[in-house]
Amino acid sequence: MTGPVTVRSVGALRAQTGQWRETGATVALVPTMGALHDGHLSLVHKANELADRVVVSIFVNPRQFGPGEDYAAYPRDEAVDAENLAAVGADALYAPTVAEMYPDGFATTVHVGGLTDDLCGAARPGHFDGVATVVSKLLLQARPDVAVFGEKDYQQLLVIRRLVRDLDILVSIVGAPVVREPDGLALSSRNTYLTADQRRAAPALYKALCRASVRLEAGEGAAGVLAAARDEVVAAGFDAVDYLTLRDAATLAPLDAADRPARLLAAAHLGGARLIDNVPVAPAGEGAC
Ligand code: PAF
Repeated sequence: MTGPVTVRSVGALRAQTGQWRETGATVALVPTMGALHDGHLSLVHKANELADRVVVSIFVNPRQFGPGEDYAAYPRDEAVDAENLAAVGADALYAPTVAEMYPDGFATTVHVGGLTDDLCGAARPGHFDGVATVVSKLLLQARPDVAVFGEKDYQQLLVIRRLVRDLDILVSIVGAPVVREPDGLALSSRNTYLTADQRRAAPALYKALCRASVRLEAGEGAAGVLAAARDEVVAAGFDAVDYLTLRDAATLAPLDAADRPARLLAAAHLGGARLIDNVPVAPAGEGAC
């Protein structure tokens, strides 16, 4: 099993992708912050289906962490990540340093208006500017034909689709479904922050979303359903709910009922972890739950 070639500079990345392109190969990019789990690896599988060559970037992006957030503590293990990438057939691992990504004097921020105003944008000011800036850079550095992102970060996926459209970046953005533990907990690098007791409580978030989704699909109004779901999450042991809300699946506009394709989105704190999750809500009752 040969592992992915590791490149650490924009120049080396461009040389590698340029070589592939000369042979007519298409290129997919899977941007990550490392600490790879099966959710990330599912994105690599999807990328392998969509392009001839797959680049996975690993960069813990300081600009998307607020003061007091977990930038320093964020799990990092590039050697294990590289082994996992070899097993799923990634061709290149792009792991730039902070100085390579943000050289001295770096002064540009990409801000996507509207979509970033609330939900995780409200709870984590500046977060989506950091995401939009680094993803723009990664797309311009790798110039992939396609880039794959997880639907677990649903608001992020919409922000990235919007920035690609607004900036005329020539890439197809593909979303891949949330990967879950057998008990329903969405895979996340931050699940490692949970104690054993908290880990047992954590699937309650997904379960509450699913119950709410079924009720909304049956035509109940959002206010009562969402209040009950929030109560369930708190009763399960979560410390605080940042949001648990029904939104238009395309625009994230708040909805009073699931009268069009919609998404239930939630973020809640459990011990040292802030967990996010979301499920589709289909007007005709064809959601995921
Ligand atoms: O979803 C993530 O892991 C990050 O936000 C991303 C897209 C890699 C940008 O740093």
